[in-house]
Order: sequence, then structure tokens, then C-alpha cells
Amino acid sequence: MPDAASGERPDAPADHPKTADEATGDHYFTARPASPGERRTIIVWLAERELTVETAGGVFSSYRVDHGTRALLGVAPPPPASGDLLDLGCGWGPIALSLALASPVATVWAVDVNERALDLVRRNAERLGLGNLRTVTPDQVPDDVSFAAVWSNPPIRVGKEALHAMLGSWLRRLAPGASAHLVVQRNLGADSLQHWWCGASA
Ligand SMILES: C[S@@+](CC[C@H](N)C(=O)[O-])C[C@H]1O[C@@H](n2cnc3c(N)ncnc32)[C@H](O)[C@@H]1O
Repeated sequence: MPDAASGERPDAPADHPKTADEATGDHYFTARPASPGERRTIIVWLAERELTVETAGGVFSSYRVDHGTRALLGVAPPPPASGDLLDLGCGWGPIALSLALASPVATVWAVDVNERALDLVRRNAERLGLGNLRTVTPDQVPDDVSFAAVWSNPPIRVGKEALHAMLGSWLRRLAPGASAHLVVQRNLGADSLQHWWCGASA
């Protein structure tokens, strides 16, 4: 049974392997996962409503909204009503869908390297009738777009160097006065990442 508060199954198995999948070598950030891509529908609570969305194996947190993502959505301020909003590393779309529902006039860029994830976001946006989502790989975001806000549960598992390069390039595209809202588990290096960013952005 779905949990009454979250709409999600409390008995859902833990998924998204912390290391590469033993059988396929997939990480959740593999561009074209080799693992079976059977889609499933799950019921989730996003943007103050219950939604049915599609997820699939080979994509981060495919049985539920990740706890970190849930925390981010719970504590961050409402997104700007207009402008370009970025969900960096969108997975199947819990953040991007929430932004698009909360700010229907804004343009939400759902960016990921995992093509299966992007396909799911496209399907979920269509299912929810959202016309304000752009679902793209990182290189498909036009250079002249700057963001009124960036939201991310970033891919810590890509390694520190790649993570710093990725965040550095996207966070420099924030419009003047705009904010970024990131969630990182403390035991996965939240403190050192914050320290790095304070130095990098000074
Ligand atoms: C921790 S998951 C978060 C997924 C989703 N936002 C959620 O909350 O469930 C991070 C995502 O970043 C993606 N990713 C990895 N490297 C990336 C890159 N260079 N650019 C954009 N996304 C990337 C991964 O494929 C993965 O979907």
C-alpha cells in the first residue's frame, strides 16, 4: 500500500546501485544503460499533489522519490514564477516536474546524461500535460541561457573532479541575484563540497 503521506510504497526495494551494477556495469549516470529498461508506474507526492509517474531500472531512485530529493523539495523556497529554471541531473524528473508544476510560466530545463532518464521525463511531462519542460542533454542547452534558479541532487558518484567541473560550469550560469539549491548527504561529502564552492565562487 502507498504511504498515506507520501503516496509511495514503504516496502519498495532499495535501488540505484551505489557502485556499478555487477551484471551490466551500469551506474545511474550511464548514458545508455545496458540493464533492462522495463518501465513501471509509481505513485508519488510532488508539488502538493499525488501523481502517477513512470520510472525504470538503470535510473536513479526508480522506486520512490529519493530521501535527499524529498528533503530538498521540502525545505527550498518556492521557485521563481518565471525565467529559466535548471534541474541539473534530473533522473526521471521529481525536481523538474515539481518546478514545472509550481511555476507553469517558467521554462524548466531538465538536464541529464542518461538517455533513459530523459525519455522518462519526456513521458512524465506529457502524462501530466506540462508544456514548459525542455528535456535535454547538457550540450543541448543554448549557451545564452542563464538561470533564475538551479536545483539539483547532484551525481556525487561521478567523482570529485567531474562533480566540481560540472557544478562550476552550471552555477556560473546563474543570473545576477539568482540562487542554487543543492542537496548532498553529509556522509557523501556535503561539507567539503560547500567548502569548495565557497572558495570557487569567492
Ligand atoms: C543523484 S541523481 C538525481 C536524480 C534526480 N534529480 C532525483 O532527484 O531523483 C543525479 C543525476 O545526475 C545525472 N548526471 C550525471 N552526470 C551528469 C552530468 N555531467 N550532467 C548532467 N547530469 C548528470 C545522473 O545520470 C543522475 O540522473
